Amino acid sequence: MLRSRFVRQSLFIFCLFMAAAVLFAQAAASAEYEPMVGQAGKDVVWVPTSPALVEKMLDLAKVTPQDYVIDLGSGDGRTVITAAKRGTRAHGIEYNPDMVALSKRAAAKEGVSGKATFAKADLFESDFSQATVITMFLLPDINLKLRPKILDLKPGTRIVSNSFTMGEWTADQTVSASEGCTSYCTAYLWIVPAKAEGSWRLPQGELNLTQTFQMLSGTLTTGGATAKISNAKMSGDRIRFSVGGAQYTGRVNGGSMEGTVKSSDGTRKWSATRDGKM
Ligand SMILES: C[S@@+](CC[C@H](N)C(=O)[O-])C[C@H]1O[C@@H](n2cnc3c(N)ncnc32)[C@H](O)[C@@H]1O
Repeated sequence: MLRSRFVRQSLFIFCLFMAAAVLFAQAAASAEYEPMVGQAGKDVVWVPTSPALVEKMLDLAKVTPQDYVIDLGSGDGRTVITAAKRGTRAHGIEYNPDMVALSKRAAAKEGVSGKATFAKADLFESDFSQATVITMFLLPDINLKLRPKILDLKPGTRIVSNSFTMGEWTADQTVSASEGCTSYCTAYLWIVPAKAEGSWRLPQGELNLTQTFQMLSGTLTTGGATAKISNAKMSGDRIRFSVGGAQYTGRVNGGSMEGTVKSSDGTRKWSATRDGKM
């Protein structure tokens, strides 16, 4: 009798102890991880982009719900979540697992878990080829290390970087957040150019292009006369150049390009095919 009472009491105390332990564990888990500005990261420390510049960066890239935004080194997830709140699918690649968990909780709180996803991964080992927009706040040498992979992305992919440039690849556009931002307030935009360098055959002659990132130079030969092209530039798959008072615009699609040429004679269509191998 006495023994069974002792067993019942022990069981009761054990259950109480277990319930307290579960409550304690739940409370500990819900106590949010608080990141510290400047904390170490794998290749870059964590410094958040100011919310004002995040908005400017997404505006600069002209992000729409049809885009797929990937933030390389996504920190607390703010850029991904802001894009998702605009109705865009967005994904963050972040090495720090605590930051990934924090980002997922923040996305859930904002009601955008369906559009905002996060992966605990090294950006150097991640595939971001499906992105139509890449955002980043890394460092100049990391941008340079990523540059060859970025230049191989689909032409037209927009790259937006907070504060840091891409070496000799000059930005297509720059924007600053003057209000609501005190440091790291400038963003740069690059549009991945199609590869247009080489010789192109036109029905009436030959176009020779040299390409340095989005900038083009070269010559157009028609009727035995060769003239230098000017004002020549790629913007994604769009090409433009002027020669002999005529303005050529068009689109490059692998081994062919076509568009319209405007001159004093009016507007007509033009096309060219790549000579030899790409
Ligand atoms: C300057 S913070 C920018 C955070 C966020 N993109 C923003 O703009 O607020 C850089 C982030 O990159 C992360 N990071 C550093 N090296 C990384 C790597 N190799 N792979 C993935 N993330 C990395 C850091 O943990 C940090 O959160």
